[in-house]
Amino acid sequence: MVALKTFQKDLREFLDKFDALATSYDHTTNHCSELESLIDDYSKFITNERNKEIWGQLELAKSSEFQQLLLDLRKKSALCVSIMEKYRALKLLNGNDGMTDYFKNIESCIINEFGHFRVCSESKVLLIGSGAFPMTPLLIAKQTGAEVVGIDIDDEAITLGLNVIERLGRDLKIRLENTLVEDLDFTKEATHIIFSSTVERKFEILDQLHARTNEDLVVAMRYGNQLKSLFNYSLKEVDQRKWKMVENISRPRHVFDIALYTKA
Ligand SMILES: C[S@@+](CC[C@H](N)C(=O)[O-])C[C@H]1O[C@@H](n2cnc3c(N)ncnc32)[C@H](O)[C@@H]1O
Repeated sequence: MVALKTFQKDLREFLDKFDALATSYDHTTNHCSELESLIDDYSKFITNERNKEIWGQLELAKSSEFQQLLLDLRKKSALCVSIMEKYRALKLLNGNDGMTDYFKNIESCIINEFGHFRVCSESKVLLIGSGAFPMTPLLIAKQTGAEVVGIDIDDEAITLGLNVIERLGRDLKIRLENTLVEDLDFTKEATHIIFSSTVERKFEILDQLHARTNEDLVVAMRYGNQLKSLFNYSLKEVDQRKWKMVENISRPRHVFDIALYTKA
């Protein structure tokens, strides 16, 4: 009972801090280190085994107050992750890049993203939600030579992202655009598509993609269920006439897991 109360109090404190730091973002690196350390603490919180058990008890209780707290935290933490990518881009562009635990965690995820469906130099990879610090396009293009296109709905993320690519991957085959999958010709050619885990509409977009993509496409859907849903949008049912899950890569020590889909 005490553990449950402490857990909920911790969540409310996280929410208040995310709220304050999201509001104080002013397109400079002011408040950067506070947000970095908050996100590192939050990453540890949601990968902590002891918290998993407490999460189970809270889910059973299903109180509407708790459900609301979960929705608010997911939205605010996703916003703060996108701000943290902006800080990282600004720091790099100002000549001062350090790597926080959160980024180390994400980057070690990227290496094995497609499990058995490897990306090679002939692949065409589309990332939905490329962010201001496009580490997925950079790592994939650098390691495999594949062509990578990243899209994002946030203009500032695209502008910063383009500057980061210019600095770290000028010779790589990477393009970033503020556009929608349905308006992008590359969607039809893509061999691999990755969804960022903090894209709220990802399953809606996946459904629409079926008619616009080639038959051999592999989709990597980043997600977080249960405790990890405090930081990620969760898995949803897919239309089984369109998509089948072929692999579910669970990563207990990482902030998100990955489900792979191919056409049914
Ligand atoms: C900051 S990145 C986070 C990347 C993180 N590594 C992950 O996997 O979630 C998420 C980006 O997705 C973008 N985004 C959110 N919804 C989107 C959508 N419907 N289409 C394209 N980008 C979207 C946000 O603007 C944000 O820049």
